[in-house]
Amino acid sequence: MCGIIGYVGADQVVPVVLDGLRRLEYRGYDSAGMAVIGDDGIRILRAAGKLRNLEQRAYHEPLYGTTGVGHTRWATHGAPTEANAHPQVDGRGEIAVVHNGILENYAALRRELLDDGVELASDTDTELIAQLLGRETGCLAERVLRVLPRLQGQYAVVTVRSAEPDTVVAFRQGPPLVIGIGRGENLVASDVTAILHRTREVVYLDNGEVAVVRADRVELLDAAGGPVERPPETLDWDAGRVEKGGYRHFMLKEIFEQPDAIRNTVRAHLDAERSGVIVDGLGIPADRLDRLRRIHLVACGTSWHSCLVGKFILERLTGLPTEVDYASEYRYREPLLGDDLLVVGVTQSGETADTLSAMELAAAGGALLATVCNVRGSSSWRLATARMLTQAGPEIGVASTKAFTTQLVALTVLALALRRARGLADRLDEQLVRELQRLPLAVEEVLRTDRALYRRGTEILSEATDSLYLGRGILYPIALEGALKLKEISYLHAEGYPAGEMKHGPIALVTDGFPVVAVATATATRDKLLGNLMEVRARGATVLAVAEPEADDVAEIAELVLPVPTVHPLLQPVVAVVPLQLLAYNVAVELGHDVDQPRNLAKSVTVE
Ligand code: AGP
Repeated sequence: MCGIIGYVGADQVVPVVLDGLRRLEYRGYDSAGMAVIGDDGIRILRAAGKLRNLEQRAYHEPLYGTTGVGHTRWATHGAPTEANAHPQVDGRGEIAVVHNGILENYAALRRELLDDGVELASDTDTELIAQLLGRETGCLAERVLRVLPRLQGQYAVVTVRSAEPDTVVAFRQGPPLVIGIGRGENLVASDVTAILHRTREVVYLDNGEVAVVRADRVELLDAAGGPVERPPETLDWDAGRVEKGGYRHFMLKEIFEQPDAIRNTVRAHLDAERSGVIVDGLGIPADRLDRLRRIHLVACGTSWHSCLVGKFILERLTGLPTEVDYASEYRYREPLLGDDLLVVGVTQSGETADTLSAMELAAAGGALLATVCNVRGSSSWRLATARMLTQAGPEIGVASTKAFTTQLVALTVLALALRRARGLADRLDEQLVRELQRLPLAVEEVLRTDRALYRRGTEILSEATDSLYLGRGILYPIALEGALKLKEISYLHAEGYPAGEMKHGPIALVTDGFPVVAVATATATRDKLLGNLMEVRARGATVLAVAEPEADDVAEIAELVLPVPTVHPLLQPVVAVVPLQLLAYNVAVELGHDVDQPRNLAKSVTVE
């Protein structure tokens, strides 16, 4: 959702804030703004639309000061206009607030302020926070502590006050905030990508806490104003990983980073010497392992697709019944919980609001909580008892790619670990470990595919308005993921379906030239899939398939085959998704869309 940066130090704040916002723009890009404390009080600059509009304004209307905040918005309350952009200010223009989240008591607070004669300048819930702070007395931290109990919902807020030009105050309930500890300067941000190039020493703010940030010190307070001690952590990401590195888009760079990301994830969790899984690394307490009878996987979007694949792998390797839920449904469906249950929250960011709520519900119901997550120190990371870090590195493109394939690897390792702990390990485990180690080479092979094939595929898809993606068994989630990738960045309608279900409705869509993308690598159900493809072909469909180059039976049906090497059936989703990522990328570029910042989307969905 929204990106936030705050700075207090010796440097001019405008370049620091703009640079931070550029790195955060992937979180939201409806409008942007900043507040700078200068000699004559707080000055605000805001602009609707992309960050470049704010940059232009900052160029023409320079602001000077060494303390300030910036924000890039994903609209919740109010249209993405300049008036609704952040920062929002109190009635006297002395306090500026940037905010990520949603105030659930927005209507009541707004009514109260209007009844009191307060004139509101925007439709935002954020302005209400600024107005409430402005009506309090005392220093900014004291005002925050008094306003906190009045706020319901989710918020990560950073605020400055003209009378305290050396202080930034931050507080959160839900969406994340991280404090970067620098030399003679300190920063606050909605995520570490905004500050990595200035410092790798960070402190994560916990829910209900307040941080009073000055250039030479950071004080953490609990909601009652009592001191909180928490030493900084050192991040293991380096700043170069959040640059495009010569690629046209982050998404393309991230697709090509997959061999390394997979290699690093495999290495982090497997002991190559003993060709075994490092069970201890998962942190599952032994007594809980004995009691384990069921698994629930919860996630959203692409991470949910990795859970669908994970179900096949976990059930096959552990024999434990595994259910997959959309986190947004799980949290309200009263699932059957208990201490025989392992609940795994799968999330790239570790900050997806629905996934976190589903995990909290599961923990409250006695389940053992695990997470497969790409961000060490994130909220899901801190919530879970057992943790598996995917080593994808920062993922900036809104369309998730390398986080997905590393999640598949992590879920396979989790399954192997549970299998071993349950005494089920046999030669299959050794084979899978070898195959996992070979997997980066297989993905490299996919990435070397002749570009001409993708040009043809791109032509077919970009000339259509709709398409159907089909797969069966462990590959049907890959059809869903391929369709989601296309939808997200090309804005073309695509529907993913288990191929066997196609006859029960979607086949009505198929007419002459209708594109059907099939995930057709060699699994036990490939013959069945080929039967389904014959059915759509008979109705005029143009079939594009992902398959092994030697699969003549697929080549006979498909207009175009995007080749992938042969890997173990449980690992086929990892190689099969890569051509679909490339296809979606190429279609979006062909149609002239902003691949890294697609319409209406945000990288990290920190509100319900
Ligand atoms: C993926 O391309 C999407 N941007 C989206 O579906 C994403 O996977 C989803 O919002 C979940 O995010 P998370 O993995 O950070 O929890």
